[in-house]
Amino acid sequence: MSNDRLIIQGGKPLFGDVKISGAKNSVLPLISISLLFDKSFTLKNVPDLADTRLMIKLINALGIMTKFYDGTIDFHGEPQNIEAPKELVSKMRASILVLAPLLSKRHNALIPMPGGCEIGERPINYHIDALKQLGAETFLKNGFLRATLPQGRFTGNEIKFPKVSVGATECAIMAAALAIGKTKIYNAAKEPEIVDLGNCLNLAGANIKGLGTSIIEIEGVSNLNPVTYSVIPDRIEAGSFAIIAGITKGEINLLNSNPKDLKVFFEKLKKTNVNVEIYNNTVKVKGISEINAVNIHTEPHPGFPTDLQAQFMSLMCIANGKSIIEEKIFENRFMHVPELSKMKASIKIDGNKAIVNGLNQLKGASVKATDLRASMSLIAASLSANGESIVNDLSHLKRGYENFEEKLFNIGANIR
Ligand code: UD1
Repeated sequence: MSNDRLIIQGGKPLFGDVKISGAKNSVLPLISISLLFDKSFTLKNVPDLADTRLMIKLINALGIMTKFYDGTIDFHGEPQNIEAPKELVSKMRASILVLAPLLSKRHNALIPMPGGCEIGERPINYHIDALKQLGAETFLKNGFLRATLPQGRFTGNEIKFPKVSVGATECAIMAAALAIGKTKIYNAAKEPEIVDLGNCLNLAGANIKGLGTSIIEIEGVSNLNPVTYSVIPDRIEAGSFAIIAGITKGEINLLNSNPKDLKVFFEKLKKTNVNVEIYNNTVKVKGISEINAVNIHTEPHPGFPTDLQAQFMSLMCIANGKSIIEEKIFENRFMHVPELSKMKASIKIDGNKAIVNGLNQLKGASVKATDLRASMSLIAASLSANGESIVNDLSHLKRGYENFEEKLFNIGANIR
């Protein structure tokens, strides 16, 4: 935990341009596939985030050499080690993404179990089951997962996920890319970050079809060719700044964004009376005086993203009337509620639903960021609140928002 905190003087409309960075949830699996290449691989539009740097450290520990400069990562070499260091895995759940590529290239992997996290238990049983379907053997002992690939290569098979999982779908794609024969994934996740991973692998010579649908078919290939690939824009960062425009009654242009990846989110935002104009890769978001209360429920893509639930709730705190926010992906994703309540928000939790009674104005308070997206919801709430707020423990925010202080400062936020 860091003692970093942000002091925000709220109640000021924010105006200006925000250039959206590369997507955190894309770059993490894309860094993992550097383990699959024989020689080199280059990524562009890489956001400089705490999680990006952790993932780079992890693949460095596995033997890949990297150079990270100006939003570019050059990768060289093949994995030399099979053991993921515990001190890195314990800091980032997404570390589990190295498992499939490591098995594919080295036929062996030793990974400490990532365990639970702030927003719920988050098991990895679907990852393990998918790898077993493709020929891996796994053993759990003393908090470590040991996995082997006795046949030396994954073998194509059918995988049916009981529930949509982004990470497990990525795991299956990464394993099947270099497998012998054909793999068919049913109930696959359709998130844009899955499509990004598949597009990058296809550019390098993989044969993956059905990306963005619930059935993905992969014909294994023997190796990947060196490529340079650019990461898609971060839709969650774009959505977060759209909320900031609405909640502060300002006007923000989201540059370099991918609005088609946020269709349902923008539809809901428009219903709240926030003005949203979409022009190719730019979205103009303008807060208009009265905010309407709108119900949402989170769902896998293309539904409303769970990663924007907390930020949307902040907007509902100042809406006209009552809204119901239902979290259907994670079992414990209302950690921001007690913090928003410190700012005088009126929210009642009933199971996986939060019932928000909108008030005219929130009041500045000292609050604690508990997880990545909750941090942004508290910053959005503080920017709109009356008086001064202190958002403590910014380490979470730094995991997923590139240059957030500079971006907020550039649109006129009064922050220290
Ligand atoms: C990814 C995103 C995260 C986002 C989430 C849902 C990354 C790095 N993170 O997380 O920001 O909030 O998708 O959109 O891309 N589950 C199991 N067993 C498993 C795997 C998942 O039960 O083996 C459950 C989870 O507990 C959860 C649900 O499936 O309830 C969906 O989780 P999943 O889509 O896997 O989330 P992540 O990939 O971890």
